[in-house]
Amino acid sequence: MKVFSDKTKIKNYVNGKKDKGFAFGFVPTMGALHKGHLSLVEEALSNNDYVVVSVFVNPTQFDNEEDLEKYPRALDRDVALLETISSAILVYAPSVEDIYDGNTKAEHFSFDGLEFEMEGKFRQGHFDGVGTIVKRLFEIVTPNNAYFGEKDFQQLAIVKKLVQKHEIPVDVIGCKIHREDSGLAMSSRNERLKPEYKKAAPFIYKTLKAAKVKFGTKSAKEVTDWVERQFAKHDLLKLEYFTIADVETLKPVKRKSKTKNYRAFVAAYADDIRLIDNIALN
Ligand code: PAF
Repeated sequence: MKVFSDKTKIKNYVNGKKDKGFAFGFVPTMGALHKGHLSLVEEALSNNDYVVVSVFVNPTQFDNEEDLEKYPRALDRDVALLETISSAILVYAPSVEDIYDGNTKAEHFSFDGLEFEMEGKFRQGHFDGVGTIVKRLFEIVTPNNAYFGEKDFQQLAIVKKLVQKHEIPVDVIGCKIHREDSGLAMSSRNERLKPEYKKAAPFIYKTLKAAKVKFGTKSAKEVTDWVERQFAKHDLLKLEYFTIADVETLKPVKRKSKTKNYRAFVAAYADDIRLIDNIALN
């Protein structure tokens, strides 16, 4: 398997193949790959000749030094795993220097307000960091199609906005959330859950599913109050936010409309590990 760490080398390699008519899919990751990532890779493989998987823990999207330090890193394992899937996969695992050229700072972006909701309220500067890295990766990898999971639904909306506003020639494709048998949304962070928290965490999706049923007959406020009460009673999980939002604007719903699509979003702490999840409501 080809593993690149130099942006010029991978860019030249991809462009050489694209000149011959080959299509490239791209799955950006921060590594510690799990089945959720692999499902994105499979989707990318089924629609492209080659797939680039980037493995880079991007410092500028972390608002918490400890979270960045503790983020799992497992490049050798990731490469070995990808090798078992297909020889059409290339890995790009750059250093911080290769991406940031000695200036590890995020650029500032406007995403038409999407960046101020939910994650944006609790993770200062997070979406500037995401915008910076995704834009740079798109410029280096120059893929035809890029695949993002719906677990980070707000990130997916922001990446679509980034591509539209900066006229980047890539199709951004959202892929369904991959769950463990317990219902817990797959995440690299799950690796760090202690056993009692791992056992408790499926409560998040269970509550989202119950909220979806309630949303059929109750207002967004009633459902939100109910969810907050369920988490308040829980010994191990601490709710950061629960929001029912319009999927287009990501703004919280005030009054339900039959013509709009809504999703419920949650962020909760299991010990010191922050978990997010979401569900389509209609
Ligand atoms: O979702 C992630 O893993 C990251 O936010 C991404 C898109 C790879 C950018 O660092």
